[in-house]
Amino acid sequence: MTPPPSIIAIDGPAASGKSTIGKRLADSLGYLFFDTGVMYRAVTWLALQQRINIHDEGAVTRLTEETHIEVAPASQSDGRACDVHIEGRDITWEVRAPQVEAQVSVVSAYAGVRSALSQQQRRIGQRGKVVMVGRDIGTVVLPEADLKIYLDASAEERSRRRYEEILARGGEADYEEILAKVRERDRIDSTRAVAPLRPAEDAILIHSDGMRAEDVFQQVLILCNG
Ligand code: CDP
Repeated sequence: MTPPPSIIAIDGPAASGKSTIGKRLADSLGYLFFDTGVMYRAVTWLALQQRINIHDEGAVTRLTEETHIEVAPASQSDGRACDVHIEGRDITWEVRAPQVEAQVSVVSAYAGVRSALSQQQRRIGQRGKVVMVGRDIGTVVLPEADLKIYLDASAEERSRRRYEEILARGGEADYEEILAKVRERDRIDSTRAVAPLRPAEDAILIHSDGMRAEDVFQQVLILCNG
């Protein structure tokens, strides 16, 4: 039997299920799960915290270069897929705040921010036995990945999932508002000049409208054992 691919890249738009599928896959293979989105969220959180103007590219880039963001396997079973720390502080849930989500695509469009973060991601990914998820893993961060998956779904389906996820965590949400924000994030992520969201040429596309998470996972497993 051939061994499963060592470097697995999963890309796709907001709320396409990358993290859920990626984490399950990593656990089942005994691999590291690495969610690159949390790094962009962490920088955005810190900039907001320090009252740095999000539109000041130079200041946000300097902040990224000066800050050590630590992404580690989950230390608690409170629903987190991994831990996110900045300067010793656990900000795993803070990076999910709506204020962060509203600004993260502005920050992640900056070339200097991307270059600093993707260098760190690449170093971790090259060690192998990793499932790395994001927007540009198969195209820019790890173009040599052994298996590239591009997970997609309609904006409506993705917003519905995000809406249900928030309700399940006991929060309040407005579906139409989520849909508008998802569309705006998609627009910025896919039209930016540096590393825009798009499938790598050799990626396998999975469109998951109408599919249960379990069906998507089974399909991904078949690709890994292929
Ligand atoms: O979980 P969700 O799909 O909503 O977002 P995420 O994966 O946590 O990513 C948050 C944001 O970070 C995205 O909207 C992108 O703007 C940015 N991002 C990126 O530019 N490149 C990556 N490799 C990962 C995330």
